[in-house]
Parts: sequence; C-alpha cells; structure tokens
Amino acid sequence: MNSTAFWDKRSKQYDDAIRKHEAPFDKTIERTKALLSCSDVVLDFGCGSGEFSLDLAPQVQRVHGIDTSARMIELAKGKARDRHIDNAIFDQKDLFDRSLISQSFSTVIAFSIFHLVDDASKMLARLNDLLPTGGLLISETPCLGERDWLFRSLINLAQKLGLAPTIYSLSSSELESLVSCGGFEILEAKIWDEKNALQWIVARKM
Ligand SMILES: C[S@@+](CC[C@H](N)C(=O)[O-])C[C@H]1O[C@@H](n2cnc3c(N)ncnc32)[C@H](O)[C@@H]1O
Repeated sequence: MNSTAFWDKRSKQYDDAIRKHEAPFDKTIERTKALLSCSDVVLDFGCGSGEFSLDLAPQVQRVHGIDTSARMIELAKGKARDRHIDNAIFDQKDLFDRSLISQSFSTVIAFSIFHLVDDASKMLARLNDLLPTGGLLISETPCLGERDWLFRSLINLAQKLGLAPTIYSLSSSELESLVSCGGFEILEAKIWDEKNALQWIVARKM
C-alpha cells in the first residue's frame, strides 16, 4: 500500500484519535502559538485532518494546509466549515506543486511528517524555498532512530503487514544535520517527549 492510500484509509481513525493524545497535542499547540503572530502566513505541511491548522488559525493571518491524502483534506475542510474558520484553507497537494510560490509563507509547520518523506534533503530544500530569509520552520518528528530495537522491530513488522506506512528511521542528530544542511539556523532542538522520542526543532531560514 502506498503512503497516500494508507493515510486515506486511516484518516477517520486518525482524526478520532488525535485529541486523545491531549497532553502532547496541547503542548505542541502552546509552544507553536508562542512563536506566531497575527501577520504570519503559515504552511502546514502534511496537515492531516487539519487539527493543528484549525487551532492556530485564529492567531495568524492565514494557514494553508496541504496533504497528499484526499480523505484527510476532506475532513479538514469539513471541520473548517463546522467551526466557521475561514482563514484556514486546505488542499490535496504535494509540496512540489507549482501553485506553491517561492517565499510566499512566513512560517512552515511540519508535525509528524519528516519521518515519512522519501528524500528529506530535497524536502528541506523546498521548504527553504517557500520561506523568505528569516522565515521560521517549526517541526516535531518521531525519531525512530532513538527508539530501542524491540520497538523498531515491531514497526518493521507493522510495515510489512500494511499496518504502518513507510517510516524512515531518523536519529535526532541526523534530523538536526538535515535541517542545518537545508540552509536553516537551528534556534531550538530537543527531544521533549522521551516516551515517543518526539524531536522538536525550531529553525530560521538563513
Ligand atoms: C502522521 S500524519 C500527521 C498529520 C498532522 N501533521 C498531525 O500532526 O496531526 C502524516 C500526514 O502526512 C501526510 N503525508 C505523507 N507524505 C506526504 C507528502 N509527501 N506530502 C504531503 N503530505 C504527506 C499523510 O497523508 C498524513 O496525513
């Protein structure tokens, strides 16, 4: 199963589950809000069912969520309508879609997505292109490379059974060097959720 088919199939379940992880979700929202202002135009890369975009929207000028899963985008659009949020737009789009213009966002948020992308260097070069100098990249990534062999073996098995998408095993230092090599200055980097090896990185385009 390719990644888009996987996320299409899991979209409803994902949407139902996201608020159950309330503590990490709230912490991510709180820390992200502290970095944003009302003039920001935000790209939510791999926005899923839009929960982060919709929570951040009242605080910024505009949020544009993109995701390759049509079902995730449908859910995000439906929630934006239900919650009467009109400055969050959602599109089924790849990061390299030509309609996304160079330097047209002040901030990119990328939550739980870097570990799913085939070519992380190419992805970071594109994110760099979409930001002006000084623009912010805010990311949170589960780093499988920081987990023990038992957990990694279980993930491997789940992938083989089609129960998990392809996940790249990044360590936190690998991720930091990918971000730095992508033309960003790292302002903050830490694993703030040890249990899930969630690496939080805030970086500025140089
Ligand atoms: C784990 S979910 C994270 C969703 C959301 N960012 C969150 O934290 O709740 C990963 C999402 O990334 C999307 N995705 C995976 N590869 C992608 C790509 N190359 N471009 C855009 N979206 C992608 C999937 O469809 C899925 O909705």
